[in-house]
Amino acid sequence: MVSTGLSFVARYVIPGSPVKVAGDLIKSLELKGDEVVLDVGTGRGLYAIESAKKLSYGKVIGIDMWDPKNVPQYLYHHKFSQPSGNTLDNAKRNVQIAGVGDKVEFFNMDASALDFREGYFDVVICAYVISHLGHYRRTALKEIYRTLKAGGKLAIIDNIFDLTYILLSTPHMFLLSYLRGKKAKYLNREFWSNIILEHDFVLQSFERKPGIVKLVASKR
Ligand SMILES: C[S@@+](CC[C@H](N)C(=O)[O-])C[C@H]1O[C@@H](n2cnc3c(N)ncnc32)[C@H](O)[C@@H]1O
Repeated sequence: MVSTGLSFVARYVIPGSPVKVAGDLIKSLELKGDEVVLDVGTGRGLYAIESAKKLSYGKVIGIDMWDPKNVPQYLYHHKFSQPSGNTLDNAKRNVQIAGVGDKVEFFNMDASALDFREGYFDVVICAYVISHLGHYRRTALKEIYRTLKAGGKLAIIDNIFDLTYILLSTPHMFLLSYLRGKKAKYLNREFWSNIILEHDFVLQSFERKPGIVKLVASKR
């Protein structure tokens, strides 16, 4: 009982807990309830679930390449940055537990080759995925732009290169980030702003917290 209570507080109440952060991002999107939402790199389905909770008629599609073996282009990076427990089975189980199974569908799909028609989505969410895509992020963002309808929203939450990020990173991630940060200004403010500019989105909000960047943009 006590441990259940503590785990509830840790997961849902403490500021910065993954569920709280996800809930806050989705809340800021002010969904009407009839949207079609895409959660790119859905992992265990956290952002798909939090979005589905806000929908009455709409639906959420979560896509991921859960198995690193399916991501040959950037296998090395993906293999070492895939959090444990990110599986299709876990994602499916989580939507059932959350009681939103009727609103969420999952597909094994590459973010850089989205199998959806142009302008299909009202909202696209990318939570901690763009930083995992390496150079394929450009193709992925083109695909996101294509499948988002005019006026639709792109919400990104991801790491930003600062002291908190360094302290929270595991040694190999730190080394990768450090080298990239030095050489390619990786994951800094300019990197995130460029994503919006390069892909012709209109920036709606840019919020920076220790280790994290949250931005919302819309398609022209
Ligand atoms: C750090 S996890 C984030 C998971 C989830 N969005 C969250 O915040 O809980 C990054 C996810 O991106 C997925 N991913 C990496 N490359 C991908 C690609 N090319 N297409 C789709 N998903 C990808 C990984 O499999 C992983 O589940």
